[in-house]
Amino acid sequence: MKDIVWSKILSVEVEEIDEDHRKLVGIFNTLGHAVRDRESAEYLAVTLEELINCTVWHFSHEERLMLKYRYPEMEEHKAEHRDLIESAKELQAKLLRSDKSVADEHIVFLERWLTEHILTTDMRLGSYLARAM
Ligand SMILES: [Fe+2]
Repeated sequence: MKDIVWSKILSVEVEEIDEDHRKLVGIFNTLGHAVRDRESAEYLAVTLEELINCTVWHFSHEERLMLKYRYPEMEEHKAEHRDLIESAKELQAKLLRSDKSVADEHIVFLERWLTEHILTTDMRLGSYLARAM
């Protein structure tokens, strides 16, 4: 499983959002390394918890900016945030229930989960904020 490498492609052109995204990518990569190194289920669960918590915090950050700058697509964007958190928590619950380790397919799921949102929904928000801020 390869690391996500931060590059200009992932930039939404708003530094404070990029900074959060870089942090999330870092935790995602830590999780990938943990899977590769066959760390304990407990370690994996804690790392996934760190990723989820950081994402919840980051989404609040984005939602505050959307409110402040009256982003017209705020409700749709927030709904997507809710779905993303829900799907990550479902994965976490599944892993804890089955007591199975995080598999490559889960990492692929999380990679898409993270990058698709950044590349689509957050890009739209970024170009709006870059003009509004
Ligand atoms: Fe977002």
